[in-house]
Amino acid sequence: MPTATQRTAENLSRLPRNDDFLIPRTAFPLPMQYMGSKQRIAGWILDEIAAAFPATETLVDLMSGSGSIANEAAARGLAIWANDIQPYSHRVLAAAFEVPRGELPEIIEWFESGGAQAILLDGPRSSLREALLVEQEFVAAQSSGDFDWQKYAEFCAAESGSHHEATGRFDLFSAYYPNTYFGIGQCLEIDAIQEMAAKLSPAGAQMVIGALISSLTFVASTTTHLAQYLKPGSEKTARNLVLRRSMNIEREVLSRLRALTRYPRPSFARTLNLGFQDALDTIDAAPKTTVVYADPPYFKEHYSRYYHVLDTVALYDYPSLTFNDRLNQVTVGRYREGRIVSAFGLRSKVEGAFRELFEMSMAKGYEVALSYANTSLLSAERITTIAEAVGFTVELKSIDLRHSGQGQAKAKSDVTEYLFLLSHA
Ligand SMILES: C[S@@+](CC[C@H](N)C(=O)[O-])C[C@H]1O[C@@H](n2cnc3c(N)ncnc32)[C@H](O)[C@@H]1O
Repeated sequence: MPTATQRTAENLSRLPRNDDFLIPRTAFPLPMQYMGSKQRIAGWILDEIAAAFPATETLVDLMSGSGSIANEAAARGLAIWANDIQPYSHRVLAAAFEVPRGELPEIIEWFESGGAQAILLDGPRSSLREALLVEQEFVAAQSSGDFDWQKYAEFCAAESGSHHEATGRFDLFSAYYPNTYFGIGQCLEIDAIQEMAAKLSPAGAQMVIGALISSLTFVASTTTHLAQYLKPGSEKTARNLVLRRSMNIEREVLSRLRALTRYPRPSFARTLNLGFQDALDTIDAAPKTTVVYADPPYFKEHYSRYYHVLDTVALYDYPSLTFNDRLNQVTVGRYREGRIVSAFGLRSKVEGAFRELFEMSMAKGYEVALSYANTSLLSAERITTIAEAVGFTVELKSIDLRHSGQGQAKAKSDVTEYLFLLSHA
């Protein structure tokens, strides 16, 4: 049976920390509002990995998401490989950790001079000129107290775009998503920034689009993730939406690009956009000194659904949208077709996925650290049994995370985060 160590997030500051950083600790420049982000417990995870596997030189962040664990590992001087199956995540990882930054000063200059505003209504985007003016009037009315929220709701319903009208000339968001996940001006900005990025080298484009994706997770017209957008169904929500939609994306991107210039490059970093099996096949790191950190989805809903819009930002491919036969129209969330389905979110496949992860890591001589939770598809006992059958020795650490109801009795959303440490016997 695994040994269990229980800690709480409140105790984190008292934990012994590895302060032997080789490069200065700097805030991650491209943060994402991301479900399942391990940012809050990254220090704890890396401390436990260091204690269990003191010879570690390379950390593979196999399902890296927003990159919080790769960031913490890099800050401690480890070599990193960061992989994720979702294209939007890879854009952020490549931009933050991997690509050369030579072009950054020029790119920053373009944003500082208001480059996106200058080309906002170029080409087919000019068809939104009128709608943009109306949106700006609502923004002004909102702050002057002269706001008719029902008129705004009518405007949103009337000006919500049609993907059939996209021309393919940098008007994807202006055609697909106005007044849904983003406002009119914001959709125009996204397309203008894409037009600019298309003229850059692959490294330059990676940084601009990575910064754009990071920004969009904070400005989107949603509550948390991007599976659905908010509608102006009440005065309060309508006012809220107008405020969100008045947020300037160009400025958000600029501040992230500036932060990138201050962010130290890891000693060694490679990023991949693969399923975990192909990633493990590709990774070329030394046995015994390499730890694979895996943080798979814990639940049945897929990241490709929560963040489909970000994949469309990453791919910019004018996708077909899913159709709701019952409503006889495009699905309300305007999802892209052909979204990635992760085996970790499928009850029928999750056990096989863990077995494969453990077997491939064992074959390559890598130790494994695995995050999972007590609310997930498989129990801790089941994971332990699978790992032991592959030949690993299993140690189990855990930490209680309070998601809401601070200071009250155990809230429904409280979760125990597990960290399985699998070593070669
Ligand atoms: C819980 S999140 C990771 C969060 C991350 N540790 C962080 O701090 O942001 C799970 C991630 O696994 C990725 N994923 C799901 N299935 C995968 C697969 N088969 N191969 C690689 N990555 C996968 C998802 O795209 C998602 O980003």
